[in-house]
Amino acid sequence: MAHELEKENAADAAMDYVEDGMTIGLGTGSTAKFFVENLAEEIADGLMIKGVPTSEQTRQLAESLGVPLIDIEQVDRIHLTVDGADEVDASAQLIKGGGAALLREKIIANASDLMVVIADPSKQVEMLGQFPLPVEVTPFGYTITAKQVYDALCRAGVLKPRIDVRAGPDHQPLVTDGGNFILDCQCGIIPDAPKAAALLAHVPGVVEHGLFITNCRVVIIGSEDGATVFEY
Ligand code: A5P
Repeated sequence: MAHELEKENAADAAMDYVEDGMTIGLGTGSTAKFFVENLAEEIADGLMIKGVPTSEQTRQLAESLGVPLIDIEQVDRIHLTVDGADEVDASAQLIKGGGAALLREKIIANASDLMVVIADPSKQVEMLGQFPLPVEVTPFGYTITAKQVYDALCRAGVLKPRIDVRAGPDHQPLVTDGGNFILDCQCGIIPDAPKAAALLAHVPGVVEHGLFITNCRVVIIGSEDGATVFEY
């Protein structure tokens, strides 16, 4: 599998942010999986934490590894969230949602004292937009919502975005953990990510979008022999 060692090294470096007694948001995806596995090892050695999974996929992984979980509705404070990203720029702006978990990921990141992103170097970009931007929408009226998402992206300076409804294995629209659909928006370049985020947030039918503008304060990029930590 491509970039496995780099992902693993990024996840190892994120353990420096973990402290006994923390409530920790558990990210989704192949990089976050390494972090959850690290936690499980430390828990076996006595670490006391509680995890808040950002997806049903991560919930199943954590449960299978014996990581204690707490329902988000029972949580007063999330000290730390460690998650992957599909793209990260030099200002720690992110595209997330390649794994269709962006809604819970954003709720949990936003509620966290600190969000740490772990990634391999292929995720670093000068400008966001090469990775199709996921936008989670309600199934009701999604074709109308898609047109308004297109208009919002154009107003944000994206040139001729292409919007596809993400399909699941059954070739029907993929249904997220929240019961919604995902529009994958091919942008090429998103020249003004904060503006795009603001405009998308105002489209009726958009539940959440995959632009994480101000959430992330630490980015850890793994390499084959370690990791580089960027703090913002
Ligand atoms: C899940 O919805 C995403 O936001 C993931 O965090 C992102 O796709 C990164 O996944 P990988 O670590 O598998 O690349």
